[in-house]
Amino acid sequence: MENKADFQYPHTFVLLGASGDLAKKKIYPTIWYLYRDNVLPQNTKFIGYARTKQTLEEVKEKSKKYMKVRPGEESKFDQFWEANDYLAGSYDRRIDYELLNQHISKYEKGPRANRIFYLAVPPTVFEDVTVNIKNACIAIKGYTRVIIEKPFGRDDVTSEKLSNHLASLFKEEQIYRIDHYLGKEMVQNLLTIRFANQIFSPSWNRENIASILISFKEPFGTEGRGGYFDSFGIIRDVMQNHLLQILSLVAMEKPVTLNPDDIRDEKVKVLRHIKPIELKDLLVGQYVGNPNGQGEEKLGYLDDPTVPKGSVTPTYAVAGIYINNSRWQGVPFILRCGKALNERKAEVRVQYKDVPGDIFEGHPKRNELVIRVQPGEALYLKMMSKSPGMKFDLMETELDLTYSMRYREADVPDAYERLILDVFTGTQMHFVRNDELKEAWRIFTPVLQQLEEQHIQPVPYTYGSRGPPEADQKLAEYNFKYSGSYKWQKPTLH
Ligand code: NDP
Ligand code: BG6
Repeated sequence: MENKADFQYPHTFVLLGASGDLAKKKIYPTIWYLYRDNVLPQNTKFIGYARTKQTLEEVKEKSKKYMKVRPGEESKFDQFWEANDYLAGSYDRRIDYELLNQHISKYEKGPRANRIFYLAVPPTVFEDVTVNIKNACIAIKGYTRVIIEKPFGRDDVTSEKLSNHLASLFKEEQIYRIDHYLGKEMVQNLLTIRFANQIFSPSWNRENIASILISFKEPFGTEGRGGYFDSFGIIRDVMQNHLLQILSLVAMEKPVTLNPDDIRDEKVKVLRHIKPIELKDLLVGQYVGNPNGQGEEKLGYLDDPTVPKGSVTPTYAVAGIYINNSRWQGVPFILRCGKALNERKAEVRVQYKDVPGDIFEGHPKRNELVIRVQPGEALYLKMMSKSPGMKFDLMETELDLTYSMRYREADVPDAYERLILDVFTGTQMHFVRNDELKEAWRIFTPVLQQLEEQHIQPVPYTYGSRGPPEADQKLAEYNFKYSGSYKWQKPTLH
């Protein structure tokens, strides 16, 4: 699958929007870690490009504090910056891209040379940038790949316009649409857990599973980013992409092979079995300040000065989704996400049905398979067991695979590191294909429009809480049973 044959040739990684937040906080650190770990082609040149007139030294100064440099790595860090360049230019004038092209060409000695363009630019300049790359910067001795980040439009129409625009310039195999959740360890593990274990495969269906809860929680609000967030809301920001991607990996049928397109074919198929969400399937919330909280916690979403007065944009949402196929008919997939909550957490909770024909007087609790994406990767299966000793009592316990305990030496890379390396090796498995995106918008656009047109008032919840109390009711309606009796004992280290 991976193609490293090209690694002997020169590569140029162009970071457009190099003066921005994403570049300094995420992309420069990521390319530094990849460079530090010697996993990129040796002869890779990094070129930052943005409108701001600044020196490379200034770019370095701004990004440095987000880049971890461990003792002993200082000279490698200097080498990394020697492999960098910065070029100021407009986003809309072809002449500037011609200069960029000349600049790249200087490094492209030999018979072959490849180019990767990372678009860390706002959606407003997206069309100009891609047209200019196509007109002035296409590699003539190798491949050209383009990495793009969400938002991929804000509904089905705008997303399709963008897709058509990109398709008019590049082939699908040149386009790498990032959903960074696809780069996370446990999200990548879903395929292995499901299809490399006979124990799960036969029970992964409507006969055995009561509901599946996929959650994303964040303990902070929009904090100054409200302007951007307000025009999207939590459904577009997290649910329609990150959570739906997880859903499709949890629910899809076994792919014919591990070929990226075989996998993505199955992901699309499962999405096609989902009807557009209706208002009745949804609960939306918005956080209010906690008068007893500290600092930011005192402030609600509407207190953020960058948020328009009276905004009804949801910062929390729960949606119940049904997949109308023979494996899943009737099983609720509950997608739940929110900001300004009590903890940071992303997980999949597969809740099995109650044991039929119970002989234990109602004591058995439902089995739950929990796949914790973050913080701290873990997989645990909650189950019943006889309590050890003379008594014949039942107890709740778990089979526990916590990465920090089991794989103490393992170095789990950041999602962006994996994904950017995948672009160099030409592996599209963990990127979003055009038709997946189309299906995702088909499912969410109508309800997003209804929320806006009908000005649906989100239910309030307090900053730092578990979310609106109504959400637990919704979970119960979707056949998610919370027993509240499970007690976890942290294993002691030997
Ligand atoms: P629990 O059944 O105790 O809790 C499950 C989750 O249910 C809670 O985290 C909470 O999450 C939610 N919840 C709380 N109240 C309600 C309610 N009224 N209605 C519906 N849902 C509710 O089991 P967990 O699997 O979460 O385990 C408990 C603790 O043990 C966790 O902190 C877990 O991380 C830890 N543990 C760790 C393991 C490991 O590291 N390997 C292994 C096993 C457990 P939410 O607020 O998101 O709804
Ligand atoms: C982004 C969202 O896609 O994901 C942010 O736009 C969110 O609002 C972030 O904070 C969460 O990512 P992670 O990797 O920290 O869970």
